[in-house]
Amino acid sequence: MKHTELGTSGISVSPVGLGTWQFGSKGWGWGRDFGREEALKIVERALDLGANLFDTAEMYGGGLSEEILGEAIRGRRDEAFVATKVSPHHLLHGSVLKAARRSLRRLDIDAIDLYQIHWPNPIIPIRRTMRAMERLVKEGKVRHIGVSNFGLSRLKSAQEALAREEIVSNQVKYNMLQRGVEKDLLPYCEKEKITILAYSPLAQGALTGKYTPENPPRGSVRAANPLFSSVNLRRTRKLLDVLQAIGDHRKKTIAQVALNWLMRTPTVAAIPGAKSVGQLEENVASLNWEPGENELARIQEALEQLRLSRLRSTLETPFRVVAGIFR
Ligand SMILES: NC(=O)c1ccc[n+]([C@@H]2O[C@H](COP(=O)([O-])OP(=O)(O)OC[C@H]3O[C@@H](n4cnc5c(N)ncnc54)[C@H](OP(=O)(O)O)[C@@H]3O)[C@@H](O)[C@H]2O)c1
Repeated sequence: MKHTELGTSGISVSPVGLGTWQFGSKGWGWGRDFGREEALKIVERALDLGANLFDTAEMYGGGLSEEILGEAIRGRRDEAFVATKVSPHHLLHGSVLKAARRSLRRLDIDAIDLYQIHWPNPIIPIRRTMRAMERLVKEGKVRHIGVSNFGLSRLKSAQEALAREEIVSNQVKYNMLQRGVEKDLLPYCEKEKITILAYSPLAQGALTGKYTPENPPRGSVRAANPLFSSVNLRRTRKLLDVLQAIGDHRKKTIAQVALNWLMRTPTVAAIPGAKSVGQLEENVASLNWEPGENELARIQEALEQLRLSRLRSTLETPFRVVAGIFR
């Protein structure tokens, strides 16, 4: 697989990686329990295919995701690029250092390739956090620093708070149905050479075509996601039909067309979650073709006609708060 540079790090990563939130999902609302054995096979296959970018977080499954990822890359550490995240309630100087130590232990590695601030915490001055992040780099425990869910002004403050290092990535929600970052964050990151790590790049499955108002996904995570309300699943159908038609012509699935479209910008890399080796293989194979101008125009037209409703989400408020905490 053709690799891309992560920010200005000089390190190349696969533009399609693997998100491992689901690895810690036992009882965590992803609708189907997820076996350790399956997770190990998914990572092994990703490495075989040259997809080296793995995203996890201390929050996922209370550390279980890091533990499983650590086990999966044992013996193949040099092939994997490991990105993990420190939680927003661990952003004081000492807490960052302790959280990193715990993550290293769970991952069973000597250094974290990319250490990201999972969410900003407005009550902790970013300078304190970044001083700890730079210390971790100096001590060799972290190789590169990233952020996640940082809007433009917070990203700029985070950059200013660093004395020696640079922010190489900002992990944000970005998919065909949720394109808020395109307005100002993406252009800024392109200018600054900061990689956008797109999370939920398949809109948690809404961009695969398998969910309909009659067949919504199970589990509280997606019940809290307004994209899966009946009205939005209906409204998304037209776009999915366009992706399906392009996919049929190209011998690609809807998910592959959606991922390919997302990564037409070189600054963007995606970390789709996968619940089976088959899904992983499909996602990794989304890049070996280029859509033509006519195909891109058809997608653009469908996107311009799309109007999603945020009002009918099931259980949106309480679950979003809870889901937000565990993301
Ligand atoms: N930084 C943050 O705040 C944050 C927040 C959310 C996620 N993330 C990261 O981003 C990663 C991915 O995001 P996400 O898991 O929210 O959403 P996603 O990648 O858009 O969706 C993943 C889900 O889509 C389905 N799927 C994946 N590939 C498929 C395929 N080829 N065909 C059909 N279905 C497929 C699977 O669920 P089903 O088979 O059950 O449909 C899978 O669990 C996470 O694992 C995590 O590492 C970060």
